[in-house]
Amino acid sequence: MSGTTILGTGRYLPGEPVTNDALARIMETSAEWITQRSGITQRHYAPEGVGASDLALPAARLAIEAAGLHPEQIDYIIFNTMTPDYVFPGSGALLGAKLGIPGVPALDLRQQCAAIPFSFQLADSLLTSGAARHVLVIGAEAHAGFMPWSDWELLEAGAEGRADEAKFTRATEHRGMAVLFGDGAGALVLGRREGASMLGTQVHSDGRGHAALRVEAGGFRRRPFIDQGMIDRDEHIPRMNGRELFKSAVQRLPKVVRELCNTCNVPLASVDWFIAHQANDRINGAVVDSLGVPPEKVPSNIARYGNTSSATIPILLDEMFRDGQLRRGQLLCFMALGAGLNWGAALMRL
Ligand code: ACO
Repeated sequence: MSGTTILGTGRYLPGEPVTNDALARIMETSAEWITQRSGITQRHYAPEGVGASDLALPAARLAIEAAGLHPEQIDYIIFNTMTPDYVFPGSGALLGAKLGIPGVPALDLRQQCAAIPFSFQLADSLLTSGAARHVLVIGAEAHAGFMPWSDWELLEAGAEGRADEAKFTRATEHRGMAVLFGDGAGALVLGRREGASMLGTQVHSDGRGHAALRVEAGGFRRRPFIDQGMIDRDEHIPRMNGRELFKSAVQRLPKVVRELCNTCNVPLASVDWFIAHQANDRINGAVVDSLGVPPEKVPSNIARYGNTSSATIPILLDEMFRDGQLRRGQLLCFMALGAGLNWGAALMRL
């Protein structure tokens, strides 16, 4: 029997890493605070003029090559981003054009950090119905565009000095959110393979939690949808209630994992890897405790990249494939929660 699995992976991180110490030049924070509260030590930022579809392109090429395919063999694109190139159209079609496969259907999904369980459910449906043979799933983010500073040169290695008082105060106001996010892209090619299967997926959305992480400006409730006043009031910068999201994640992620494993008749102990969204090492630590699973089965790379939103799980998978940790036949349990709120889990036999 053949079933849905990951055929190839790729990742791309732009530019040189930016350390926690560098962030302390532009806002009131410290390397110690960031590392202790989140596990993050550095992150990357997309340069000016580089959008999510640009970050996705090299990652997608690597994933297609790793799957032993050519771009023309991709017959569906699922593009996850909360920082698209344009308000519209979506970035998926842009990526298709950049890959040289115009005409291939491309969906943009807006599930933020919960991208992967939703994408896997959709890709599995496309593959099992025969609507597609090879689905390219992308997570790509260019958060740099909403960061609350303009002194990018102060973040470069070897830079000295600090932002002026007004800029420093403004960035500090957003520090709880700003230190967490980083840019990058991960790509997965999903297809069917003998012995593999998507055992199940379970996904949820609850819009009652939408104010916990939201960008106020640039929405079409407003006339015009964007204006200078919104920018002056920093409404283009996400407002995040970190504690509420933290609490939601540590309650909802273990619950959805347990429910999915029960539905699929899979004991937690038989899962080889729990691949969790990388929002905060302390969230994943709490999930480990709650599920009672060995921490070594819950890999982490947040130290190097920060929270790359939809890209965290694809980037982590690419690292694990390329360093030989992931092997055919292993059982993977994915879990993620993001703005919306959206959350879910997926079980896959590689
Ligand atoms: N540097 C220094 N101090 C800071 C910083 C910072 N970067 N940020 C906040 N602080 C201060 C606060 O002002 C506060 O000071 P006070 O006690 O004097 O008021 C103190 O540190 C504690 O702040 P808390 O917000 O309570 O800190 P907490 O331990 O909750 O950690 C954090 C904050 C890291 C944001 C945490 O709540 C978290 O990770 N939440 C989850 C966020 C998340 O997952 N977001 C992504 C969602 S997924 C998506 O869809 C994109």
